[in-house]
Amino acid sequence: MQHLVDTDQLSLEQIFAILEDARRFKEKLPPPLLRDRVLMTLFFEASTRTRSSFEVAAKRLGAHVVHLDPTRSSTKKGETLEDTFANLCAMDPDGVIIRHSENDTPSRLAEMELVPVINAGAGNYAHPTQALLDLFTLWEWFDGEVEGLRVAIVGDIVNSRVAASDIRLFRRFGIELSLVAPKPFMPITNLPQYEKIEEIIDEVDVIMSLRAQLERHKKPIFDDYEEYARHYCVTEDLLDDRSVMVMHPGPVMRNIDISDEILDDPRSLVLDQVRNGVYVRMAVLKLLLLDSREGTES
Ligand code: NCD
Repeated sequence: MQHLVDTDQLSLEQIFAILEDARRFKEKLPPPLLRDRVLMTLFFEASTRTRSSFEVAAKRLGAHVVHLDPTRSSTKKGETLEDTFANLCAMDPDGVIIRHSENDTPSRLAEMELVPVINAGAGNYAHPTQALLDLFTLWEWFDGEVEGLRVAIVGDIVNSRVAASDIRLFRRFGIELSLVAPKPFMPITNLPQYEKIEEIIDEVDVIMSLRAQLERHKKPIFDDYEEYARHYCVTEDLLDDRSVMVMHPGPVMRNIDISDEILDDPRSLVLDQVRNGVYVRMAVLKLLLLDSREGTES
């Protein structure tokens, strides 16, 4: 049974198959490859893009989606998460998509080997489909030439599961990463580190901006995010006429992460990422629910 807890569970061959499938699906929608399959979503944290993107992806492939609202579920009545999950699996869904604030929840549920588990964001540990759609966006924009691409990740890196997954995935593709953050947002890392974007702006092809993960800060880190924005917001002044592409997993804090002007600038790939997310998730669902199953059953 193939799960997706993070992308290190995928071989390079499987990742290339996802990129290729996503590219084909974007060109022309496929027939309903997952007709009448049932997926369940279990989101213990807020989500706009990821949950709806999975739902659109599933529906584009002919699958049905059942959402469980954990704020109204029996985990609130004292049932363990494992028991809730086992009960849902007793209804024979074809896959469960889960988001949780704990880093190890998707892996714990995957280890039960009841149904393919897809991690839609866990703590600050991993968000594999976001990393795959980020890679796809780069791969598409740079015509498949991602090796040697210079990407600066800027913002609250230590608390970001997107950054964690991007770093692990991008390294496998020879993408050169640098991290730009104030000290409280910088993880322990052997990657090149900078305190200001200006220091590196002439040496990057792409800036991946991140939101300050306020909900994960035990106590407020900055009183004043306008002051923070002076050093970390991606603005017209900063980019000037440089051909640096700008990405962000969303939700964007306007004029703190990225300025209004840059969000409307052709160098912003933010909405391309969202668009690509659907095709990448379609490709992931196909891989997990169709291709890998055929592999194990034959
Ligand atoms: C992120 C998340 O929730 O991990 N958003 C997303 O899924 N696209 C990032 C964030 O919340 O800042």
